[in-house]
Amino acid sequence: MIPNLYSFVGDTPLVELEVPFGGAEIRLFAKLEMFNPGGSIKDRPASFMIQQGIADGRITNSTHLVESSSGNLAIAIAMIARQMKLEFTAVIDPNVTKNNRELIEIYGAKIEFVDEKDVEGGYLQSRIRRVRRLLDELPNAVWLNQYANPDNRRSHYEGIGEEVVRDMPVEPTHAFVGVSTCGTIMGVARRLREAWPAIRIVAVDVVGSVIFGSPGGQRRLPGIGASRVPEQLDTCEIDEVVYVTDWESMQGCHRLVREEGLLAGGSSGSIIAAIEKMVPRLPHDAVIVTVLPDRGERYLDTVYNSNWLPENERARRPLHDSHRILAKTSRPQSVTQS
Ligand SMILES: Cc1ncc(COP(=O)(O)O)c(C=O)c1O
Repeated sequence: MIPNLYSFVGDTPLVELEVPFGGAEIRLFAKLEMFNPGGSIKDRPASFMIQQGIADGRITNSTHLVESSSGNLAIAIAMIARQMKLEFTAVIDPNVTKNNRELIEIYGAKIEFVDEKDVEGGYLQSRIRRVRRLLDELPNAVWLNQYANPDNRRSHYEGIGEEVVRDMPVEPTHAFVGVSTCGTIMGVARRLREAWPAIRIVAVDVVGSVIFGSPGGQRRLPGIGASRVPEQLDTCEIDEVVYVTDWESMQGCHRLVREEGLLAGGSSGSIIAAIEKMVPRLPHDAVIVTVLPDRGERYLDTVYNSNWLPENERARRPLHDSHRILAKTSRPQSVTQS
C-alpha cells in the first residue's frame, strides 16, 4: 500500500554541524525538523493531537477543528485536515505574516481574524475569546489547544526524544531547545533524561518572552517565546535558560547559511546565538544536541531581509541577565502523564 503523506511526519535527519564556536571543541548535533512534509516541527504535534483525538472519539468525520495559531501549527493542521477531509478554522491576528496566511488559506482552512488588542496590549486573550465563541457557534467544533494538550508534549517525547536516543552516536552533555508552547522541551527533556540522566537541558527563549518570569516586551521573531506561561511548562525539567535578542537570532541564521549552507527559520538562529553565548560556561568538550524547528523560506521577508530590524533594535541587549540557572525542586517521576 502506498503510504499517505502524513505518515512521513517525523523521523527527521539528525546531522552533525560544523559551526565553529571559538576554539572550543564542541560537537553539535541537530534534528532537522524542516524535513517534515509541512516544513516544520509542528507537523508532529498537529498529527499526534489529531490522531489521539480520533483514537479517543473526540474527533470524527464531522469534526470542525479550531486552533489559535498564526504560524507553523496552523499550517500543519491545515495540511493534515485537508488530507483527512476535516474542516479547520485558524484564529489569527495582525502579527501573522502574509506568507503564512496565504499558506493556511491555500490548504483550504478558514481564517478568523482578530484585530482587537487585549488588556495586555497583545492579541492572545482576544484570540482565545474568539476560539471559545467558535466552540459555541460551530457545530462539532474541537479545540486542539496546543498550550495545554498533553498530546503536544507526548508527540515530542515519542518523536524527537525517541529518535535522538536511537540515533545519537555519543552521549550528549547538553540539549538546547527553543521554547514557545513548551511542548517540545517538555517531551524531549523527559525522554533524553531517561536515557542520559546527567544531561543538562537548556531552554532558549527570546528577550520579551514571559515564559520564565521575565518582563514581557516587544518581540519580532515568530515561532519562539510567548506572552503567557504555557500550562504544560514544568520548570523542574529544565536546568538553564538562555535569552537571545531578535538581532542575535538573525545573526545566528546567517551563520548557519554561511557555514553550513543551511537555510533555517528564525529560531534556529536563536539556538546558534544561545550556544555562542554559553560557550564560556560549557565544558570544552561539550556534546550538544539541538532541534532546528523549521526551514528558512518562510522568513525571507524577516530574518533574511536586511531591512527587517530597525537600526535602534540591532544593538538591543537583554534588560536582565541573559543566562539563568533554574532552581530545582524534585523532578516528576511518571513518564508521559504529568
Ligand atoms: C518555529 C518554531 N516552532 C516550534 C518551536 C517549539 O516550540 P514549542 O515550545 O511550541 O514546542 C519553536 C521553538 O523554538 C519554533 O521556533
